[in-house]
Amino acid sequence: MRRLIIVGYMGSGKTTLGKWLAKKLKLEFIDLDWYIEARYHKTISELFAQRGEEGFRQIEKNMLHEVAEFENVIISAGGGTPCFFDNMQYMNRQAETIYLQATTETLLTHLNMGKSTRPLVAGKTEEELKEFIETSLAKRAAFYEQAHIIFEPGPLTNDELVETATNALIQKIRQNN
Ligand code: S3P
Repeated sequence: MRRLIIVGYMGSGKTTLGKWLAKKLKLEFIDLDWYIEARYHKTISELFAQRGEEGFRQIEKNMLHEVAEFENVIISAGGGTPCFFDNMQYMNRQAETIYLQATTETLLTHLNMGKSTRPLVAGKTEEELKEFIETSLAKRAAFYEQAHIIFEPGPLTNDELVETATNALIQKIRQNN
């Protein structure tokens, strides 16, 4: 039985790499945000608007406890998942955890590709976004760094880069086992 969980900041490539990794390792891919949206019939933005961040974090924890029981899966967590409750310790007990480390520059590039669906960064200017990333990453890094494996994929702006990063990550996971 295999279970992997990918953690990291918004825009670090958790979903993109997770999908490729799942295909290559022949495991099922589950994105925690998508799982929440399907279970609640609401978008993450709607859940934030209706229940506030605190309400969202409770739902996120509950849903994490569902998916982290599944077998032969790769789960991509939300960017904030490891930083609330005892979620990071719980994930480390349940799975092989991977932190996708990224520079502010890479995060900015990726986030500019999908900003509208993320309530914490929606509507921010480039400058505000950069400052927000730097401030929150400084607080979150201590949680992310508890993961079993730390891997820096670099920018994932085309399929070739994603494939190269996926292969390198598979090597790293093998070395760790
Ligand atoms: C969040 C990250 C998002 C999503 C929500 C909050 C965060 O997930 O869970 O918008 O606190 O960093 P992604 O990292 O998949 O964008």
